[in-house]
Parts: sequence; C-alpha cells; structure tokens
Amino acid sequence: MSKKIAVLPGDGIGPEIVAEALKVLDCLRSDFGVDVEIEHALIGGAAYDATGTPFPEETLKLCRQADAVLLGAVGGPKWEPLDYSVRPERGLLGLRAELELFANLRPAILYPQLVDASTLKADVVSGLDIMIIRELTGGIYFGKPRGVRTNDAGEREGYNTLVYSESEIRRIAKVAFDVAMKRNKRLCSIDKANVLECTELWRQVVVETHKDYPEVELSHMYVDNAAMQLVRNPKQFDVMLTDNMFGDILSDCAAMLTGSIGMLPSASMDKNGKGMYEPIHGSAPDIAGKGIANPIATILSLGMMLRYTFNDTVNADRIEKAVAQALEEDHRTADIYSEHTIKCSTVDMGNAIVGAMRGQE
Ligand code: NAD
Ligand code: IPM
Ligand code: MN
Repeated sequence: MSKKIAVLPGDGIGPEIVAEALKVLDCLRSDFGVDVEIEHALIGGAAYDATGTPFPEETLKLCRQADAVLLGAVGGPKWEPLDYSVRPERGLLGLRAELELFANLRPAILYPQLVDASTLKADVVSGLDIMIIRELTGGIYFGKPRGVRTNDAGEREGYNTLVYSESEIRRIAKVAFDVAMKRNKRLCSIDKANVLECTELWRQVVVETHKDYPEVELSHMYVDNAAMQLVRNPKQFDVMLTDNMFGDILSDCAAMLTGSIGMLPSASMDKNGKGMYEPIHGSAPDIAGKGIANPIATILSLGMMLRYTFNDTVNADRIEKAVAQALEEDHRTADIYSEHTIKCSTVDMGNAIVGAMRGQE
C-alpha cells in the first residue's frame, strides 16, 4: 500500500522550498518506484488568513492519518501583531505537541564542496559531522504558568516556566544514547546545571540513563561554553543532547558551520518513529518571493523522511548523493555562493538535484 505524506508549505519561502522537495519526490516516484501519495494542508500564517486559526482541525487530522509530514516554514512580520494564541508559530508548536514529536534530530554536516561557504576557517569545519538531539515538546516552550501579568508594584511582568519531568528527560536521553551507539559513541549533554535546578535534574537523569549505555563516552557542558566551543572547535562534538530552547539556539549556530542555515534539515519523531520533517530555518521574510532561497535543507529533510520513517536507505542515499553532485557541479544559491561557482535560483537548484538523481543508476 502506498504511504501518505502530508505536505504543509506554510509561509514566506516555505512554498518555494517545498515545491523543490516535491520535484525530488516526483522523480523518486517516476524513476525509482517510490510509492507515496501526497496531500496538502494549511499551517501557520497561511492557515490563519484562510481559516482564522494557524492550526486548523483538518490539518491535524490529515497529519494524524499520514505516515509522515513535510513542512516548509511558518511565520512572518505580517502576523507579528497578532495575539500569541493565533500566531503562525503556534501552529507549528501545536503540531509538535499533538503528534508528540519529542525527539528532534538536527544533523550538521559540512559538504566538502562548501568549505569556503562557511564563515569559519576551512580547517575548523572541514569534515564536520555533528548530530544535535533537541527535546521538542517540553521545557520552557510549553511550561506553565506563562503569560504577562501586573505585579504588586503595578508593573507588567512577563513569565515563562522551565519544567521537565524525569520521564521527559529520560526518553530524549535514550534517543540520544541510541543515536550515539550508531555513530562514534560520544555524547555531550548540554545544560545550565550551575544555575537552573531543572537542568541539574536533566544532568542527573542523563547520568542515570548512561548506566544502560556503558560503551558511550558521556560528557556534560554548560550551554554558554557549548556555544563558544561550537565555533572554536566544533569537531570535538559527535552527538549533542539539548533541551528545547538550548537546542533551538545551538542548532542555528551549528548551521552556519555547514555554510548556511539553508543546509540544515531536521526530523521530529514520536516514540513510534512517525515523523515530521522540516528545515531548521524559518520563513526568511527578507528573501521570500525572490526565488533565491536555498531548498537543500528541505530536500535533505525529505531524505531524512525516507531514512527514518520509511526505512528506505537506498533512496535517502540517492537524495544525499544528488545534493553532493549538484554542489560538485558548482550550483550555488546566493547563501552559499562563492567565487568561481554558478549562482542559481531556488528552482535551478531543485532542477540540478533532480538532474543529478536521474543520472544515477
Ligand atoms: P529565518 O531562519 O527565517 O531567517 C534568518 C536568516 O537566514 C535570514 O536572513 C534568511 O534570509 C536566511 N535564511 C533562512 N533560510 C534560508 C534559506 N533556505 N536560504 C537562504 N537563506 C535563508 O529566521 P528569522 O528571520 O528569525 O525568522 C523569520 C520568521 O520565521 C519568524 O516569523 C520566525 O518565527 C519564523 N521561524 C519559523 C521556523 C519554522 O517554521 N520552523 C523556524 C525559525 C523561524
Ligand atoms: C525552529 C523554530 C521554531 C522553534 C519556532 C518557529 C517555533 O525556530 O524550528 O527552530 O523555536 O522551535
Ligand atoms: Mn529555530
């Protein structure tokens, strides 16, 4: 039976980059026998404009029925004045929460062709291959109480709550140890245990979980140092385990080591391996509609979908090889352009990747 993918393009550059990933998917269907059906749905600002909510019931229903979800990006200045409850970002957060996508995998890999695109020196980043495992449905993003209130002095005060239960920490720690076992067996857990009780518990639970993974070399690092180490010597890391907010920040930082935020895909998984796949970047309002966004992060997210949800290693490898070949042929969107390469549009990059796939056995 064919698999079903829910496609949620979203806002800004979302529709532009998703269109290129769908071209890649079409090629897999026509040339390589991948049997999938796709169905589109609204999310984010686009959904708010059409229905008054950034997260329509129908979208949730479709995503629940689907085997996997492919998402572009949500948000933009147009919707910033809205109340938090109907902001585009609520749609994305709602989807993560409703589908219980607690495990977010964000691989930061430098394609050798892009050594010069990184703002860091070649010897610092060449060969980079890090996996950031970010907790995605807990922490300060979802903790209660939250809001803005008037305090006793009559002033407004904003407040959010950083909270993690033991079980929430343990399940993401297990994912990180399992991933580490399949890689170089080195895991660095990031926290702020010197200041925050919640992350002190995080550290304790990670240490307890380690007992089941004696082969993995576990280390701990405070998040401020981790941010610095990521740009000083990123290759010291193999797998990094973080909470929701630290992972959000550190993964944008790690993205730049790969040349551009337009290169970083992600997988957000539930406990059964069902997943949502999206680039880590946002809707890039500054370049939306210009046809210059880099679609590679979204195309690689599709690759992660094939690998993790559909267990189709052959076609996942096929996508990654095609990306490498398009880069080898010097195709570059503006964000990764360097001298002596060919500056291309979003559509040109999609076409180059599809062309490279067609050329494969
Ligand atoms: P952003 O990631 O959208 O953009 C940051 C910078 O990176 C911009 O200069 C942008 O042009 C560039 N960039 C991002 N993706 C690119 C790509 N594929 N190719 C080339 N350049 C790219 O972050 P922001 O500007 O802080 O946020 C814009 C909006 O996106 C906000 O509304 C934010 O809430 C939302 N957002 C959504 C997601 C998501 O949907 N997963 C992620 C991050 C931000
Ligand atoms: C991301 C984004 C989201 C996050 C926002 C848009 C809710 O920045 O996917 O990294 O903070 O998780
Ligand atoms: Mn982010």
